Formats: sequence, C-alpha cells, structure tokens
Amino acid sequence: MSRRKVGILISGRGSNMQALLDACAAPDYPAEIALVAANRADAAGLERARDAGIATQVVPHRDFPDRQSFEVALDAALRDADAELVCNAGFMRILTPWFVERWHDRQLNIHPSLLPAFPGLHTHERALAAGVRFTGCTVHFVRAEMDAGPIVAQAAVPVLAGDDADRLAARVLAAEHRIYPLALRLVAEGRARVADERVLIDGPACGEAALLNPTD
Ligand code: GRF
Repeated sequence: MSRRKVGILISGRGSNMQALLDACAAPDYPAEIALVAANRADAAGLERARDAGIATQVVPHRDFPDRQSFEVALDAALRDADAELVCNAGFMRILTPWFVERWHDRQLNIHPSLLPAFPGLHTHERALAAGVRFTGCTVHFVRAEMDAGPIVAQAAVPVLAGDDADRLAARVLAAEHRIYPLALRLVAEGRARVADERVLIDGPACGEAALLNPTD
C-alpha cells in the first residue's frame, strides 16, 4: 500500500497532530506524516513530533516582511518534504488565497464547532451563550474564507447542564481526536470527492464513514 505523505501545520500544543501521528502508526493507515511545521518555535507540539521521530520545521512568521513571503517559505518546506496533503491542526495564521489555491482540495482544517455555526475564535463560549444543545467539530477542506470549505466529517457533541467553556472544550476535543484521523483516512484513500463545493464520500459505509454522534 502506498501512503499519502502529509504535512501538518501547528501553532500550539498539537493534540490533534498527535491524534494524526497515532493513526499513522497503524500499518493499514493510508497516510504518513512527512513533516510537522510550526510558525512558532515554542509550539509544544514540535517536541511531541520530535519525540515521535517526525521531521519538524519552524517557519517563524515574524521573521518575514509580509504574509506572502512567509507562505512561500511554508509552501517550500511542505514541497521539500514531498507533502501531498496538508492538515492544519491548531494552526493560527490566516492563509492568503495564493497559498489556499496551491493546496486546493489537498488541505484540511479542523474547527471546534459544527460549521457553518460559530466560525472564528471562542467557539465554546459562543455555543454556551447561544444555548445550543449540540455543538461539535468539523473537518473541512480549506478555502480562502476562514473556517469555510467543503465539509469532510463532523462529530456532534452534547452541551450538558453545568458546562463551562473548558468542560465543553474538553468534550469536543476528544471528538476532534477521533474525527480528524477518520477524515484524513477518507481523503488519503481518495474516497472524499469535492463536487459543487460539497464532499461526496465513495465506497462502503459512505454515509456513516464521515459522521460521529454521541451514541457511538
Ligand atoms: C483545536 O480545538 C482545533 O479544533 C482548533 O485549535 C485547537 C488546537 O488544539 N483549530 P491542538 O493544538 O490540536 O491541541
């Protein structure tokens, strides 16, 4: 089995990165991590990646005069590593249309809400303020608009009485760690197809494959 080479972009602790690394450790997983790149040298996830023997690179955005030159360097790092797919995992830089186009339908992001609800920051505070009964997380292909793009997979997570943002975030994060490897598998196997800006899943259990819910 040939495995698709993946570059992961992080800015922080890297728990989603870790979930992808763990998934890739299984011999039948269709992807392998070629590079973990961070825009900050102090991203805790870098240490975790090094511990796992994964190549890492810091591309510090502050060292570049503008967004485009930063992205050229990031793109070069990914290409040097022969990455075919990119997974944003807590990557906190807004990407320009130039970068997004270069990785069109080959770049995934994970977001801690059921998009299109609550794009942007502070999703859990906003979900609590809105009084929704369910929130969750979404893996989607990246488009120039932030936290938008064809949805590959979603997990629904209940909002429980007594939740504060931290408790809710922890419950959602556990679902993120399940859904990101699942979504990457679908994309790496070529089973997630973008048609008309929606994702069609081919193959067996196609509906269920991209869905997690609290009864699981
Ligand atoms: C996750 O909640 C992810 O959905 C969001 O940023 C957080 C990153 O966490 N985009 P980690 O660095 O993967 O632990």
